[in-house]
Amino acid sequence: MQSVALVTGANRGIGFEIAQGLARQGYFVIATARHPAEARPAFIGQSVEVWELDQRYAGSVAHLAERLRRAPGRLDVLVNNAGVMLDSGRRSALALDPDVLRNTLDVNLVGALRVTQACAPLLRESPAGRIVNVSSSLASLDGMGSGTPAYRMSKTALNALTRILAAEFAGTTVKVNAMCPGWCRTEIGGPQAPRSAHEGADTALWLASLPEDGPSGGFFRDREPLAW
Ligand SMILES: NC(=O)c1ccc[n+]([C@@H]2O[C@H](COP(=O)([O-])OP(=O)(O)OC[C@H]3O[C@@H](n4cnc5c(N)ncnc54)[C@H](OP(=O)(O)O)[C@@H]3O)[C@@H](O)[C@H]2O)c1
Repeated sequence: MQSVALVTGANRGIGFEIAQGLARQGYFVIATARHPAEARPAFIGQSVEVWELDQRYAGSVAHLAERLRRAPGRLDVLVNNAGVMLDSGRRSALALDPDVLRNTLDVNLVGALRVTQACAPLLRESPAGRIVNVSSSLASLDGMGSGTPAYRMSKTALNALTRILAAEFAGTTVKVNAMCPGWCRTEIGGPQAPRSAHEGADTALWLASLPEDGPSGGFFRDREPLAW
């Protein structure tokens, strides 16, 4: 049976490139979007279905999980790509509106957790389950500085979740890793970024199809370990 991958936030940017890349590798891809009708035309002719998901809402995640259980009833790869940067251009944590932090965490951390919890039973049944969390080098405590504090904190927390999940899945066939795509030309990255979204997708595609002896609980950019 064809392996199945689910990519969140796949209607544009890096998620779109990851979904396309996985389809090219032979996966049946479920690409999620908040507005699926708008996203579907871009995937015509590919082994991709576009399903609705807004990961801020538990009901939306539960609906996705129920649909997944019914058919295809299998999941091998989950890419938690969906994300927001709501404090772009903001410098100071002292001036950060706590609601901006709360809304950022709701998508980047809590949303990713919700989706992972919902997908975990099927991933456990896969012969080679892979979870890829799309993080950022801005999350690295090693190089932590000021600017976009809500975004940074949300991705640092996503990195922590990556480590916790890797520990919980240890001894199973499921591997969990985080990655940074680099600075890419997307809505989040802006037009002056040096990389294309296509280039940014590469490490996620690599982590999605790691062999049995591949790493788990790591943080990578350009297929190389990145400091936590
Ligand atoms: N671009 C960079 O330089 C860069 C660098 C490091 C990390 N990243 C990370 O890469 C990932 C992809 O970002 P991108 O650069 O491709 O930006 P993007 O073009 O803005 O894509 C973000 C995606 O997340 C989706 N999304 C937002 N809120 C959502 C929600 N509540 N539920 C479900 N989906 C939601 C968006 O859907 P809508 O279209 O409906 O809003 C969109 O598909 C993010 O996690 C980002 O933090 C990006």
